[in-house]
Amino acid sequence: MALRPLADAAGLAFGAAVKSGRFAEEADYAALLAANCNIVVPENAMKWGPLMTGPGTYDFAGADALVAFAERHAMRLRGHTLVWHRQLPPWIEKGGLDAAALGRALDAHIRTVVGRYRGRIWQWDVVNEAVADNGKELRDSVFLRRLGPDYIARAFRVAHEADPACRLFYNDYGAEGAGPKADRVYRLLQELVAAGVPVHGVGMQMHRSLGDMPPPAAVRDNMRRLAALGLEVAVTELDIRVPLPATAAAFAQQAAHYAALLELCLAEPYCKTVLCWGMSDRYSWVPKFFKGHGAALPFDGAFGPKPAAHAIARVLREAAGHAAAETGAKGAAPR
Ligand code: G3I
Repeated sequence: MALRPLADAAGLAFGAAVKSGRFAEEADYAALLAANCNIVVPENAMKWGPLMTGPGTYDFAGADALVAFAERHAMRLRGHTLVWHRQLPPWIEKGGLDAAALGRALDAHIRTVVGRYRGRIWQWDVVNEAVADNGKELRDSVFLRRLGPDYIARAFRVAHEADPACRLFYNDYGAEGAGPKADRVYRLLQELVAAGVPVHGVGMQMHRSLGDMPPPAAVRDNMRRLAALGLEVAVTELDIRVPLPATAAAFAQQAAHYAALLELCLAEPYCKTVLCWGMSDRYSWVPKFFKGHGAALPFDGAFGPKPAAHAIARVLREAAGHAAAETGAKGAAPR
């Protein structure tokens, strides 16, 4: 099973989040990624907390190793994530910095990290999960409390200065289909675009379960209204968890959901990117965070293809056939 050549032929950036510390030690994990991804994103290695060992001191070893791995395999890269309320260095999250100091720290962090990989990262998740789950307001964070809502625009402007060619994304979860949070994300992007903020796309994380998959038509309509703002839309953290122990029926339903979402993305010209939050169940965040659920990814813990992987292959093969027939409308992975 090799999804990468199919994704390339379908003109889709398709891949997964990567545990930096694993592919260096595990040849079979590296092989799984190389066979199935033409794009990767670090699961944790480029987050503010994991990058900094102390105020002003960075440890880029994990991030650099992932960038080198991706470039060795001619994969594109997503950067994740510059500004998020979680996995922050303690002196940022609880350090009691005043607005001026926090603003300087935020600008310096973005310039340091985006500047280090300038020209090598295709898309950055600049701001992650800034909208509250109730969809009524922006999420409380040290950034909102100290800098006000403008921290979002500020982050995008500084990132754009640091790498003008990079595609800058806002990334969130639970806002994929219809609902108050999706509406609030849309309003946030409307405001940013209207203000001339350099934002180029929206990442829909798509962390879902069998029971809460949004209807494809609702996802499509939500994607289309974002695209009407001139934005790209990416599926950035796809996983579809099932109750454990997983049954064949659950895996069949999971495969159908993976296929339907991929068909939707391939049919919409502004959606060029789909990543799973891991490629194998062996390294999924889900079991630790959703007790009694797991097996959310296309390949199992032994790196064997599940029905979801076969469904993805089928959809990509069909899209590649259509692309070839249309003489390359999506015939080669977008650059
Ligand atoms: O690296 C330390 C290790 O040194 C320590 O021994 C260990 C003790 O538990 O913790 C390790 O850090 C963990 C880190 O993952 C790396 O494995 C953190 O505790 C753990 O909280 C962290 O979880 C990550 C989670 O974000 C944090 O909220 C998950 O791996 C990661 O998959 C998840 O990813 C997020 C996206 O960034 C944003 N969207 C939602 C998604 C799922 O929460």
